[in-house]
Amino acid sequence: MQRVRGTQDFLDLTLFNFIIDRARRHLQRYAFREIATPILEPTELFKRSLGIFTDVVSKEMYTICAGEGDEQICLRPEATAATMRAFFNNNVEERPWRVFSWGSMFRHERPQKGRYRQFHQLNIEYIGAPSLFTDVECIALIDSFLSQGLMLDNYALHLNFLGSLEDRERYRGELRAFLDAQPVLPKAIVDRKETNLLRIFDLKDSDCQALLANAPTLIDSLSPESHAEWEQLQTLLAHVGVSFVINPRLVRGLDYYNKTVFEFVSMALGAQNALGGGGRYDYLSQTLGESDMVPSIGAALGIERLLLLLESRRDTLPLPREKALVALLPVAEAQQPLVLVCAQFLRHHGVCCESFFDGGSVKSMMRRANKHGARFAVIIGEEEQRENLVVVKDMVTGSEKKVRQEQLLDELNVT
Ligand code: HAM
Repeated sequence: MQRVRGTQDFLDLTLFNFIIDRARRHLQRYAFREIATPILEPTELFKRSLGIFTDVVSKEMYTICAGEGDEQICLRPEATAATMRAFFNNNVEERPWRVFSWGSMFRHERPQKGRYRQFHQLNIEYIGAPSLFTDVECIALIDSFLSQGLMLDNYALHLNFLGSLEDRERYRGELRAFLDAQPVLPKAIVDRKETNLLRIFDLKDSDCQALLANAPTLIDSLSPESHAEWEQLQTLLAHVGVSFVINPRLVRGLDYYNKTVFEFVSMALGAQNALGGGGRYDYLSQTLGESDMVPSIGAALGIERLLLLLESRRDTLPLPREKALVALLPVAEAQQPLVLVCAQFLRHHGVCCESFFDGGSVKSMMRRANKHGARFAVIIGEEEQRENLVVVKDMVTGSEKKVRQEQLLDELNVT
C-alpha cells in the first residue's frame, strides 16, 4: 500500500511542534485564543465564501459524500470561512474575536515541492475588527512571528490594496476595456475574463505576463477615500518597522477579500513561494447569508512551507532538548518482571525509560541502547536481582558501578 498522492507521513514532529509551540506563545501576547473547528464542513460554505469560479472550489474540493438529506459535505480547503461560521453558530459576542487554529486542509492540486493535497495551516483571524490599525497589527504579528518566533529572515512581504466593492467594479471595467483593445488575447486570459477577471494576474506563462505588464492596476484606480486608507496602511506599517514590497498584481486566489491583501513569500521555496497570505474580508459574513456585516481580517501560514525553510537551519534553532534516556536491560527472562517494575517506578519520578523485553544478549541490548541515545544503561542480572542491586553504566564515559535498587533514582540524577 502506498500513501495517497500529495500526502505525507511525518516521522519526526520536532520542528512541526516547535512551530505550533512558538505560535501559541506568540499569539498569546496578542491576546489570541486557540480554537479548533471540524475538518468536515458543508460544501456550500466554501462555494459561497471562496467563490464558485475560484480554482479551490471549481477544481480542488474534496467533496466526500452527502450529509443530512441532500447536503454535500467536504474536507475543508481553508479555515477562514469555517471560523466565520463558528462565530455565528456559537453566537460569539466578543469583538474583535481574536482566534487562531491549526490543522489539516485539503486541496486537490497537482503535487509538487511545497504543494500537497493534505497540508497544514496556522490560521489567524480577527473577526469583527473594522479598524485599519488591526490590518497593521495583523501583518506586524505575522512578520514578528516569522522573524522573532521562528528566526527566519529570508522572506519578503508583498502588499496590495483591493479597495472597496465600487473600486473593484470600476477597475474591472477599465481592465476589460484594456483587454478588449488588445489585437489578440492568450486563451487563458479569455477563459478567466468572463469568470474571474482579476485572477488573470495569477497566470504565470510569459505571454500573459508580457501582456499584463501594461495593464492598468487597481491601486491606480482607487477612489480618494480608498487611496487615503492605502496610504495610511503603508505609513502605519513603516511606523511599526515592517518592510514591504508593493505588488499591484497581488490578487489572492480566494474571492472574499477587499482592501488590504498580503502575502509573505520566500525565494528559498522555489515555485510555491508563498509561505502565507491573507487580507481583509469585510463582506464574508453577508456572503454566508448573515444579515450583520462583520468586517474582519486574518491570514494563514502554510506549515509545510515553514518546515521547508526551517529544516536547513535546524541546528541553530532552540528546539526542546529531549530528556536523558535510561535503558533498562534484563540479562535473562527471570529479571524481566523486576525491570518492568523498576522502569515504572523511575517513570513515575519523571525519568525517561526504555526497557528491553525482547530477549537477546546483553551485548545486542547495549548496542540498541546506544543507538537510541541512552545516557545510562541499567543492567539487572541474576546476582543483582538476588542482592537487590543494579549495574548502572554511564554510556558517555563507559564507567560502571553497582548500586542498591533503592538508590537508583538518586544515582541517575537525570530528572
Ligand atoms: P491561501 O493563500 O489559500 O489563504 O493559503 C495560505 C497558505 O497556505 C499559502 O500561502 C501556503 O503557504 C499554504 N498552502 C496553500 N495551499 C497549499 C498546498 N496545496 N500545499 C501546501 N501549502 C499550501 C487561505 O487559505 C486563507 N484562508 C488565508 C486567510 C485567513 N485569509 C484571511 N484569513
